[in-house]
Parts: sequence; C-alpha cells; structure tokens
Amino acid sequence: MTAVVVAGTDTGIGKTVFSAGLVQALGAQYWKPVQSGIEEETDSQIVARLSGVTPLSEGYLLQLPASPHLSAEAEGAVIDPDRLELPPMQDPLVVEGAGGLMVPLNRDMLYLDLFARWRAPVILCARTQLGTINHTLLSLKALHDAGCDVVGVAFIGDAEPEVEETIQQFGKVPHLGRLPMMENLGGAPDFGGERSALPGGRSGAVRPEGRTGCATLAEVFVQNINLDLIREAL
Ligand SMILES: Nc1ncnc2c1ncn2[C@@H]1O[C@H](COP(=O)(O)OP(=O)(O)OP(=O)(O)O)[C@@H](O)[C@H]1O
Ligand SMILES: [Mg+2]
Repeated sequence: MTAVVVAGTDTGIGKTVFSAGLVQALGAQYWKPVQSGIEEETDSQIVARLSGVTPLSEGYLLQLPASPHLSAEAEGAVIDPDRLELPPMQDPLVVEGAGGLMVPLNRDMLYLDLFARWRAPVILCARTQLGTINHTLLSLKALHDAGCDVVGVAFIGDAEPEVEETIQQFGKVPHLGRLPMMENLGGAPDFGGERSALPGGRSGAVRPEGRTGCATLAEVFVQNINLDLIREAL
C-alpha cells in the first residue's frame, strides 16, 4: 500500500496543514478526493503553497462549502464512489478526507466507508483542546468498527500531555506526535516551490508558548512527528 489517509476528528482541525508537512517529509503526492467549497483557497491550493508539490486533481470539485453529499446535490450531482478509487502510484500518496469521519459522500455512503473500502492505513488528526478525548475516542471506535487500519493519532495544537496520554491509553493506538501551532503558514511556500523531501537551510526557534516563529513547516514536522511509524504503514 502506498497511500495513507489523513482523517480528522472534525473539520478545521489542521488536516491540510498536516498533509502538507507529510507530503514534504515523505516526498509524497497529495490527493483531495472531494473538495466542497471553492470560493476560498482549496485544500489542494494550500498544500501546493505550503509544500511546493503539485497535487493530483480532485475527484470532485464542488462549489458549495457543505457536506460533500449536499454540495453535490446542490449541483444536481451524486458522488459516485467508483470515481474515487485510489489512483495507482509509484510514490507514496497522502489522501485527505473532508471534515470528520462520518461525513456523507452520498445518501448511502460515509467517508469512513470509503476509507474501509480502500483498505488504506489511516492517520487520525486530533486537536489537543478541551473536548478532544471524546471526539478522538469516538473516531477511533468508528475506524475500528469499520475495519480500518489506524496508524495512530497525530495531535495538533499546544501540548496537553495528560490529555494525549489518556487518548493513547483508552484508544490503544500509537501517538504519532504533535504539530504545534505555527505563525508562518499564511504566505509564500516554505521553500522556493521545489519538490523536496526535506528542505535544508533555515533553522527555527520554538518560542516558550509553543508557537513556532521562523521554522518551516517541513522542519517542524520532522522534529515533531514519528515518521518511522508512518513509513512502516505504507
Ligand atoms: N499547525 C498549525 N499551525 C498554525 N495554524 C494551523 C495549524 N494547523 C492548522 N492551522 C490553521 O487552522 C485552520 C484549519 O486548518 P486546516 O485547513 O488544515 O484544517 P482541515 O482539518 O484540513 O479542515 P477541512 O475539514 O476544511 O479540510 C487553517 O487556518 C490553518 O492555517
Ligand atoms: Mg482540509
């Protein structure tokens, strides 16, 4: 298996930023099967900006920023999961879901069902903020019940060691690390638009409050995420 799914406990928790870091760290390709909402920067555009890697084309590019089934219906369409088969790849492929796991693709199928059908390993991205224990454990149970192979949980946000440890203990899955909140994600690519597994050069400092001032996403990612466990799953 060369594909790894980046799923999340909810929308807006940092799957796209995590995916951009993972793409660089693995020298991987990126695919967003269903993009709902195109008025703002799409996830593929964000990954391209942050990583310099050109993503594969989306399976569905839908205008309405809503659940995929509703975005499709607004255009008189129905998402056909047969059009969302994983593309055969030589390189590793990072595939980002949409929202949380139980987001409907159509009236019969959830994103979770598609992950199970693909039989691809899943990384679950989770916040460290209050409420994450419940959301993360429910998501892990859903993945387990669907028969998905979970690589582990990757946390995003400020450190909450006791919370992270509790999730690991009850969830019985590896802790893949924690991506801190960074300040420099808004502008130009981290490094001159070239495709590269690991940019060299600039070194960054993590400030006391955990915000990363000048380190690149790729640097912060490899410092904080357990890539060996992810590589083993591919
Ligand atoms: N590590 C981080 N440091 C700083 N900002 C972050 C980080 N991770 C995510 N963000 C910010 O949080 C917001 C949501 O992140 P992101 O788009 O990655 O979420 P998502 O889970 O992919 O959302 P969606 O469900 O819409 O795909 C964005 O503004 C992003 O820049
Ligand atoms: Mg996203």
